[in-house]
Amino acid sequence: MLKGRHLIDPMDFSPEEIDEILQLSDEIIKNPRLYADVCKGYILATLFFEPSTRTRLSFEAAMLRLGGSVTGFSSADASSAVKGESVADTVKTISNYADICAMRHPKEGAPKIAAMYSDIPVINGGDGGHHHPTQTLTDLLTIRSLKGRLSNFTVGFCGDLKFGRTVHSLIKALSRYENIKFVLVSPEELRVPDYIKDEVLTKKRIDFVEVDKLEEIMPALDILYMTRVQKERFFNEEDYIRLKDSFILDLNKLENAKDDMIIMHPLPRVNEISMEVDSDRRAAYFKQTKYGMYVRMGLIMKLLGVEI
Ligand code: NCD
Repeated sequence: MLKGRHLIDPMDFSPEEIDEILQLSDEIIKNPRLYADVCKGYILATLFFEPSTRTRLSFEAAMLRLGGSVTGFSSADASSAVKGESVADTVKTISNYADICAMRHPKEGAPKIAAMYSDIPVINGGDGGHHHPTQTLTDLLTIRSLKGRLSNFTVGFCGDLKFGRTVHSLIKALSRYENIKFVLVSPEELRVPDYIKDEVLTKKRIDFVEVDKLEEIMPALDILYMTRVQKERFFNEEDYIRLKDSFILDLNKLENAKDDMIIMHPLPRVNEISMEVDSDRRAAYFKQTKYGMYVRMGLIMKLLGVEI
């Protein structure tokens, strides 16, 4: 039963529960008109203490397309956080106004604290360099829709694997499906944090390698997940400048890639995928943004317990 639950960590829901959300999202994609009024009378609050384009707007579009309403703020400066209000007090207040909320916060763990004080479902829209479970749902729906399954893949993650929360969440989620292998491509300084390697990859005996070149491993990949170097999480500008152009995907580098590989990216892109790749049939990142809205429609319906 998903009604009334929070979504803070990608492992909060079982693979069966995730499947339920993906199934419903598929139904919505097939027949969106059927769902146009199901959330009439419900309010979603988006509490965004950090910048966002896709996550916040796709949540809002999702709720509006279900016939519900939205309220919220899009930066900490526009909320009482600037006056020193705690996340706990903010969410206790919002529980009186809305039926469900999505929160993004620069501090790891903030949405989890919010969930402890909230009377309504709290959805983590990204907490610092930690997790981003609704991007994971987006990614799973994209993979399932474009590749027809969620098992038996070699998945390459490339870029900032240290601070990239979408990477952490997707590795955790994919590790629950059969026969998934990971190729982790990053500069030494931006490797996947040890806690994910120890608690997920090593513990579950998942096949993974860490490399610092993309070209050599390209032919093995079924999915290539590119990421942006997370400027805002660096402690000093020099390191960012040194590492920011580590990987730039262009058509040349794709020459040895499988014909049916898909290229994903949570976006925003800075320069890590050159624009010439956008028209390659393997580029899936803009399709991914659309799946993100549909999967949030499915998620909102499940957490509110509404049905047609
Ligand atoms: C990502 C995020 O915020 O973590 N963006 C998103 O939500 N689609 C990725 C990023 O900012 O690089």
